[in-house]
Amino acid sequence: MKPINVGLLGIGTVGGGTYTVLKRNAEEITRRAGRPIAISVVAARNIERIREITAGGCRATVDPFAVVADPDVDIVIELIGGYDLARELVLEAIANGKHVVTANKALLAKHGNEIFAAAQKKGVMVAFEAAVAGGIPIIKALREGLTANRIEWIAGIINGTTNFILSEMRDKGLSFAAVLKEAQRLGYAEADPTFDVEGVDAAHKLSIMSAIAFGNSMNFEQAHIEGISQLDAADIRYAEQLGYRIKLLGITKRTPEGVELRVHPTLIPAKRLIANVEGAMNAVLVKGDAVGATLYYGKGAGAEPTASAVIADLVDVTRTHTADPEHRVPHLAFQPDAMVDLAILPIAEVVTSYYLRLRVEDRAGVLADVTRLLAANGISIDAMIQREPDEGEEQTDIIMLTHKTREKNIDLAIVGIEALPAVKGRIIRLRLEELL
Ligand code: HSE
Repeated sequence: MKPINVGLLGIGTVGGGTYTVLKRNAEEITRRAGRPIAISVVAARNIERIREITAGGCRATVDPFAVVADPDVDIVIELIGGYDLARELVLEAIANGKHVVTANKALLAKHGNEIFAAAQKKGVMVAFEAAVAGGIPIIKALREGLTANRIEWIAGIINGTTNFILSEMRDKGLSFAAVLKEAQRLGYAEADPTFDVEGVDAAHKLSIMSAIAFGNSMNFEQAHIEGISQLDAADIRYAEQLGYRIKLLGITKRTPEGVELRVHPTLIPAKRLIANVEGAMNAVLVKGDAVGATLYYGKGAGAEPTASAVIADLVDVTRTHTADPEHRVPHLAFQPDAMVDLAILPIAEVVTSYYLRLRVEDRAGVLADVTRLLAANGISIDAMIQREPDEGEEQTDIIMLTHKTREKNIDLAIVGIEALPAVKGRIIRLRLEELL
């Protein structure tokens, strides 16, 4: 049967992996797709790199616009990343009636509403399995495997760089700065690690999952984002003493007041399976009302794991590209006219539990003052430890875990507690989720 023709934009790590895996597994992939899938043209700045990877097996160009306009191309794979050029190319490909496969989470988080509307209008598919958690088929699971469920919440370790750093900080008792340097040396962290360590990459992926889970529009701009760069190794240690691990989680939850959409370091019980996801691995926990909790684990980045997701999308598009657009799986899991506009909750309205670390003078009545202020704001204490002061030391650390409360109550209590003369410096506040 005649192959379906693919134009590839970008032949970096993922592009190279896609070419290699598609070639290596061509026979199996053809048996699954029903016809061969052939990369017929590649656009990249470095023509030499194209030749090196493809060994002359396809056409090469430096002009990506020629690929999205090429009448022989049925599917465009966008792997160049970034916002503006990628947006222009994807919209142009759609306008030219091409299906698009992309791994670009930043593009979809920011311009997804516009891109999916354009694709819907034109009757083409935009597939994006590789945009969230690399090789883990989480989009497929959310969009198809779990369609019977009312999804209640998702909590994911969706950034490998930060999970690697947190694992090393815990294992070796090192500071964030020391581990980041090592991660950069080993190639786990970028030279400019901001997007990863400040939680932006995770928030991109979370926004996509949230939209699919709830049939809501893409709301990246309203996500609450905190990274791990301010995290102190002492808190990882204290959390461990209390039976918790600290992970950078992307959490989205449907509540009667609105949708929670937040990325931040989070204490989770050490005995949960997801708490034991170490190194650069990713995992996503999804709670559905019928199925309960399901956990998806695997490599969230890398050439072949991400290629695995890109090619799964190519196969999906190949199987259904001749189908009536009405009979395909909707881009965001819900029929376009059944999408809703649920409000994203401001972080002050989020309800969760908290970990507090206070530096205090070690004398009678200090704890009573602190607990009085917590009680005055309706906050109940769940657990507490006090560090044994060193010989002659007059200050100590108190660590408290609270029951669930609204974030604005904790904010008020902290203002009051920090004003107590016996409390020294800022209170460290981290969120805690039991994930039940
Ligand atoms: N930089 C990401 C990570 C992979 O560290 O997981 C691509 O999103």
